[in-house]
Amino acid sequence: MDKKILVIGSGGREHALCWKLSQSPKVAKVYCAPGNAGIKQHAQCIDIKASDLPGLASFAASEGIDITVVGPEDPLANGIVDVFREKGLTIFGPTKKAAQIEASKVFTKRILERAGAPTASYKVFTDPDEARNYIVEKADIPVVIKADGLAAGKGVIVARSLNEALDAVDLILVKRAFGDAGNKLIVEECLKGEEASFMAITDGFTVLPLATSQDHKPVYDNDEGPNTGGMGAYSPAPVVTEDLFEKVMEQVMIPTVKAMADESAPYKGVLYGGLMIDDGVPNVLEFNCRFGDPEAQPILMRLKTDLLDLIEAALSEKLDSVTPAWDNRAAVCVVLASAGYPGSYETGKEIHGLEDVEKMEDVMVFHAGTALKDGKYVTAGGRVLGVTALGNTIKEAIDRAYDAVSKISWEGMHYRTDIGRKALKYI
Ligand code: AMP
Ligand code: GLY
Repeated sequence: MDKKILVIGSGGREHALCWKLSQSPKVAKVYCAPGNAGIKQHAQCIDIKASDLPGLASFAASEGIDITVVGPEDPLANGIVDVFREKGLTIFGPTKKAAQIEASKVFTKRILERAGAPTASYKVFTDPDEARNYIVEKADIPVVIKADGLAAGKGVIVARSLNEALDAVDLILVKRAFGDAGNKLIVEECLKGEEASFMAITDGFTVLPLATSQDHKPVYDNDEGPNTGGMGAYSPAPVVTEDLFEKVMEQVMIPTVKAMADESAPYKGVLYGGLMIDDGVPNVLEFNCRFGDPEAQPILMRLKTDLLDLIEAALSEKLDSVTPAWDNRAAVCVVLASAGYPGSYETGKEIHGLEDVEKMEDVMVFHAGTALKDGKYVTAGGRVLGVTALGNTIKEAIDRAYDAVSKISWEGMHYRTDIGRKALKYI
């Protein structure tokens, strides 16, 4: 009971990480930079931005932090792990070079090829005319256009018409809507199927799969409307059958970790495969170099093992010696968002009903974008809360999560009413 842990980030994922790590018998204190109003229940929030890498490293050094855990992709892509390691600080996550698996879609495609993992066929372009000619002459519609770099989840356009595809090329390569993230673009075959999130912790050698989950990216019910960071998630995801789970490990996760080592970018941390499952084939849409958000919320609700044990095993390359234990129950997380999200939204709305949900057993309200004002919780982001409930069945978890949601309100609050519904068809 002597370890000091620093969690970087300020969303629902980081709230779930702080909540879980604060339960470890080995942990004396959890800090979170910058954190949010809900995270304050489990961690001391430090006013340093997740983008201030030297500031974070100085804090970790002066405070004697034992292990730093990074939530979001930006600091990883900007090399926070390299900065910390140079100072002799222990940090969990991939290096800048390895984080390219999320930060560069062209890099990801090369790794997937090297790994022999199933994925959509594609072509890379830097010249807009060449991209347009290729689309007009060769591509089937719908087609997917992707900016190479990180674009806050907005750099992927699933074009349903030729015009939409040509507009996407214009947006990325000519108007440069995503800046340098759009130096290159990928024109990719449009895959069909059902999506799933497959996360594993790896020490670069052993790949330890976590529980399966499924996200809900579009803002409205029935997957309509623009994409968001994720409007809800549940675990386990029955679309990933036992057979498919093995296939994902053998065809995707293990060969990818090996390919990263072969590419001189050995991977340590959480590797998240975004999959499109079609007729038993787990095609890779993308990789993320971190826990999913909101997926981390239901997954960490189900994790019975001390998360710190898993992280320490990964850091010391002893993941082969640990087996995580999972709660057999299902967990469902419903994201509550501000009016206007994922477009522009207002903040500062008072949140009602949190105290009623606190009384409910096996329900957690993870805060994603909240602040405290005059002792009251107010909205401070697009995604505001992740209401997460356990249930004996997925149906029960859905009902319990929505029961909790019904107690919470603020002006303009919106959410999807069909989180988890896709799982019910497997039962
Ligand atoms: P990504 O940021 O790469 O996960 O892409 C965002 C979303 O775009 C995914 O969750 C999918 O819904 C969709 N997407 C990405 N690539 C493809 C593809 N090749 N075919 C169909 N949909 C895709
Ligand atoms: N929920 C999707 C992601 O974390 O990227």
